[in-house]
Amino acid sequence: MTASREIHLVRRPKGMPVPADFAVVDVSVPPTGEGEVRVQTLIMSVDPYMRPRLNADQALNAPLLGGGIGRVVESRNPKFQEGQLVRQGVGFREVHVSDGKGLTPLNRDPALPLSVYMHALGGTGITAYGGLLEIGALKDGEQVVVSTAGGAVGSVVAQIAKIKGCHVVGLTGSDDKAAWLRDEAGLDAVINYKTQPLAEALKAATPKGIDVYFENVGGAQLDAALTRMNVRGRIPVCGMISTYNGGGEGVKNLFSLIYGRIRMEGFVATDFAHLNAAFMSDMTGWLKAGQIKYQETVLEGFERAPEGLIGLFEGRNTGKMLIHVSD
Ligand SMILES: NC(=O)c1ccc[n+]([C@@H]2O[C@H](COP(=O)([O-])OP(=O)(O)OC[C@H]3O[C@@H](n4cnc5c(N)ncnc54)[C@H](OP(=O)(O)O)[C@@H]3O)[C@@H](O)[C@H]2O)c1
Repeated sequence: MTASREIHLVRRPKGMPVPADFAVVDVSVPPTGEGEVRVQTLIMSVDPYMRPRLNADQALNAPLLGGGIGRVVESRNPKFQEGQLVRQGVGFREVHVSDGKGLTPLNRDPALPLSVYMHALGGTGITAYGGLLEIGALKDGEQVVVSTAGGAVGSVVAQIAKIKGCHVVGLTGSDDKAAWLRDEAGLDAVINYKTQPLAEALKAATPKGIDVYFENVGGAQLDAALTRMNVRGRIPVCGMISTYNGGGEGVKNLFSLIYGRIRMEGFVATDFAHLNAAFMSDMTGWLKAGQIKYQETVLEGFERAPEGLIGLFEGRNTGKMLIHVSD
């Protein structure tokens, strides 16, 4: 038997999750059987989508559903070699034994850090790519506004739009994130929605209106963007993080959709499997050329996953929030 740990949900959160809603549980992993592999988790991803699941879909007293990257440390399955890196969707488990279900071999480009496969070259990256280019139907040179621009999805959306020659405005909740977006990522304007009057600031930053508003927040930010949309504008609806802990403000300006002939369309990352080859090729090239930059907030230690998840709703991450478990 091998000692391991799991992160469990032990109580359904009311509003903002708190550390006592979770527990770090010691477990013993059985020996690796015929046809099985033993995997050591290296990095875990905490993501906003996990919060709505805590209300019902996530089982109590079971590993928290979430993704990561692991390394095969023992293999009795011919599909996997020892030492192989895998993407894993097996819940938050430090070490686990598996028949291979939920594991996908990861072919890493040695010129890129492994962690990049958890964001720009991972789920948040393809969300940004497919959401902006396919659902947003972005055309070169358009007027683009991105919410949660300092985060994992938003920062990639904003920079793809810059690569496509667009005028890009980002919305974020901190001056530090705003400075990075302006100075490093090259956005044309950034608004701190916590300190600036949103409607006025957005009007000033979008003199030619908005062709694509990439929606990650909902509430007041969606309301402000709706009043600035150009005719035949698009709103790819990626997320509504302001509502995930319950509450949130109602949206009043949806009537703008009518005369604006605006298309508002939701999507999920798994809709973009058909784009994967083009995405991996484009994104690898952009990263290597320095056209897509990124930031990471890495918490050290498996047991800090709940802190990382809660931190997303307090804006404590710059770029992708990750949990480093092992090298
Ligand atoms: N449809 C899909 O398949 C899909 C896939 C991935 C992500 N998403 C969605 O994309 C959005 C961003 O996800 P991410 O993984 O890139 O996270 P992220 O932006 O890296 O982190 C979350 C950020 O959201 C902002 N935030 C938190 N609470 C907020 C609130 N009440 N109002 C406004 N902003 C708030 C904070 O940034 P500030 O400091 O700027 O406030 C925080 O840092 C989320 O809505 C998520 O659900 C959707």
